[in-house]
Amino acid sequence: MRYEKNILTSEIYCELRKSVEWFELPKIKIDEAIKNSIYTITVFDGDNPVGMGRLIGDGIYFVIVDVVVNPEYQRKGIGTQIVNMFIDYVDKETITGSRSSIQLIAEKGKEGFYEKLGFKKIPNEFCGSGMRKGIRK
Ligand SMILES: CC(C)(COP(=O)(O)OP(=O)(O)OC[C@H]1O[C@@H](n2cnc3c(N)ncnc32)[C@H](O)[C@@H]1OP(=O)(O)O)[C@@H](O)C(=O)NCCC(=O)NCCS
Repeated sequence: MRYEKNILTSEIYCELRKSVEWFELPKIKIDEAIKNSIYTITVFDGDNPVGMGRLIGDGIYFVIVDVVVNPEYQRKGIGTQIVNMFIDYVDKETITGSRSSIQLIAEKGKEGFYEKLGFKKIPNEFCGSGMRKGIRK
């Protein structure tokens, strides 16, 4: 398995989202999202793209999005490797005296995957719930 940095394309992005039956997005917005990502990872088996993830953020707050592993390749440690690469990246970006926060929204039932990687469910004793508002047209 080959883990490539910052070479994600809209074609691969669409193909992988389709493989896990996520809704389609317009190409123009996908291109913009990829361009504005801090860091993308694309995983290949030979020439075949089998996984991806994107890290977005501003240098203090980071958000992990679009972590997808093709169902034929799931449960082989690929998702774990993708998320660990993002954690390593943020760790290196965090300077002494500062604090970074890596945030994400787990799909229902996938919380265990992220808990194994050190993420904590919220709400907890320190935080209220994560919240979001979607706008669909
Ligand atoms: C979630 C996802 C990225 C995990 O990727 P993966 O490569 O299969 O995960 P790994 O092999 O690294 O799994 C490591 C551990 O996480 C846990 N895990 C993995 N998939 C899980 C799932 N679907 N539900 C609950 N726990 C899961 C397991 O404990 C697993 O260890 P095990 O295989 O020894 O039991 C993958 O299932 C996927 O792409 N799903 C569809 C898209 C999606 O939901 N993405 C996440 C968005 S929040």
